[in-house]
Amino acid sequence: TVEDSGGAPPSHRAVRVPPGVTVFDSASWNGIAIDSTCGGHGTCHKCKVRVEGSTPISRHDVRTFSREQLDDGWRLACLLQATRDLQVAVPPLTTRPKAATVGVGRQVILRPAVQKRYVELDEPSLTDQRSDLQRLLDAIDDLEPRPDLHALRRLPTVLRQADHKVTAVVVDEALVDVEPGDTTDQRYAIAFDLGTTTVVATLLDLALGTPVAVASMLNRQQPFGGDVITRISATMMDPDALPRLQRAAADTLVELAAQVCKEGEVDPAQVYEVAVAGNATMTALVLGIDPEPLGMAPFVMVAAQPPSVLASEIGLELHPRARALFFPALGAYVGGDIVAGMLATGMDRDKRTRLFVDVGTNCEIVLSDGERILATAAPAGPAFEGGAIKCGMRAAEGAIEVVRLGGADDPVQLGVIGDVEPMGLCGSGLVDAVAELVRVGLLDASGRFVPDEQAPIVAPALADRLTRIGEERVFVLHRPHPEAGPEESVVLSQRDVRELQFAKAAISTGWTLLLEELGLEHRDVQQVLMAGSFGSYISPASAVRIGLVPTLPVLRIVSAGNVAGEGAKMALLSIRERAGAAALLEEVTYVELSDRTDFNDRFVEQLSF
Ligand code: FES
Repeated sequence: TVEDSGGAPPSHRAVRVPPGVTVFDSASWNGIAIDSTCGGHGTCHKCKVRVEGSTPISRHDVRTFSREQLDDGWRLACLLQATRDLQVAVPPLTTRPKAATVGVGRQVILRPAVQKRYVELDEPSLTDQRSDLQRLLDAIDDLEPRPDLHALRRLPTVLRQADHKVTAVVVDEALVDVEPGDTTDQRYAIAFDLGTTTVVATLLDLALGTPVAVASMLNRQQPFGGDVITRISATMMDPDALPRLQRAAADTLVELAAQVCKEGEVDPAQVYEVAVAGNATMTALVLGIDPEPLGMAPFVMVAAQPPSVLASEIGLELHPRARALFFPALGAYVGGDIVAGMLATGMDRDKRTRLFVDVGTNCEIVLSDGERILATAAPAGPAFEGGAIKCGMRAAEGAIEVVRLGGADDPVQLGVIGDVEPMGLCGSGLVDAVAELVRVGLLDASGRFVPDEQAPIVAPALADRLTRIGEERVFVLHRPHPEAGPEESVVLSQRDVRELQFAKAAISTGWTLLLEELGLEHRDVQQVLMAGSFGSYISPASAVRIGLVPTLPVLRIVSAGNVAGEGAKMALLSIRERAGAAALLEEVTYVELSDRTDFNDRFVEQLSF
């Protein structure tokens, strides 16, 4: 519930986040601003929210709130983790922030490329015949912008209509517009996470550094195929496919921009900049660039850093001179989305040894020891997105996302998105199901279901769930009714386990080789960041159990959320951070795995659980 200081009724929003994420981050990721000057580190005591029901009290809460307030549910949002459904009331902002908290606890000092300056100019006279432009530039001489034709066309009329009281709009050191009166508070930008599957847009208030609205939808390129390879193939087989894919990407961005502007009650003409974080293929397609060289060895991009273009050139109807900014890419399969993610997680700023894993069809892996940063990509296949899995589905309503086996009263406990009848198994449910079957002993280390006669010995309460469909052995996770046979039920099959084994072996081979490259071992890793719309939802314990991540205490495994979108926000809020993203091109070494002779041996070693 977001309360409004202007007396408007509170707005109500339901959001879904990975378990264990703080209320502060949950709000930030979903476009809800909470007061803070410390960036979620528990020191400013400003992030006050009121929570329904009983929740843990931290020692900082005790210092901040009175007994009555604590009883009333007041807590500091950055110290409260969401581990179950919570109802949270968020008060309106009380301070005008100079910094914003973005990404994984990153504090960003506000210095957007979009600047506005309100000026009251002297009227021209016969003794002061300076040009309109000079008059304006003299008043904003600290910004030293270069004039743009659009601004010049508007200048004479706007100056005279507004009695020479105008706001100059400067974007990336170009004077792009003059607006009548004082519009300095109306400065917006949109951060896009242009994913292959899902696209997310966040409308940002650049004056406050806060998100105003967030919207997401499936990428309209879906009919061309679920992953980047099928979309690249589409362009190779049909000459019309590239313009159609470009249009589909543009339509997606246009629809999301319209949605966030409507929800945030912002005039699209006051959106002056957008940032787009996408993988190399998505970036090529939205720019109308032939992606074919990305799809075949030696995997070459047209440019590591695409130029910034007008937002109108990628189909967006915002301010006519709004710029669209793209992130640089490290390689064909470690794209701008991952560079944005590195920015959001501060991979280049932290002295700790950290591993960043963005799990998906293509899995990107980054390892930093505080000095050197290595990045690679591992082809994990479609298992995590529900592809090639018997009862696989995307993480949508009806998908089993949590599996716990062997409870005393209820031997199979399922967490289902939307709390509805289970319809299938999404990626995190798949990881959980396999990890739990390994834990209870129904799957052996090689990934085979144990023989029928052994099942009642190792897991008596679950043995009747281990059955067959035809020749194939399956484990029944959910029966729609008590008499349902395995064909009508949600099951995990032996082949599904194999698919997951291949996917996890590709990923663990990737980070194993990176660790070796830096001369490190599992235990040297101080933090694992699980990123992306899928990776963020994997249970850390299950990820460790199946060997998807190094063997570490689960507290060192952090769900990082949609870091590509967060990086895009950072680039819009600060030109310094934007420069940081460009610098990553120099700082990170890209490691190509596909030509390594040791890859196959390692891969085989990594197959077991
Ligand atoms: Fe500063 Fe929570 S954000 S204490």
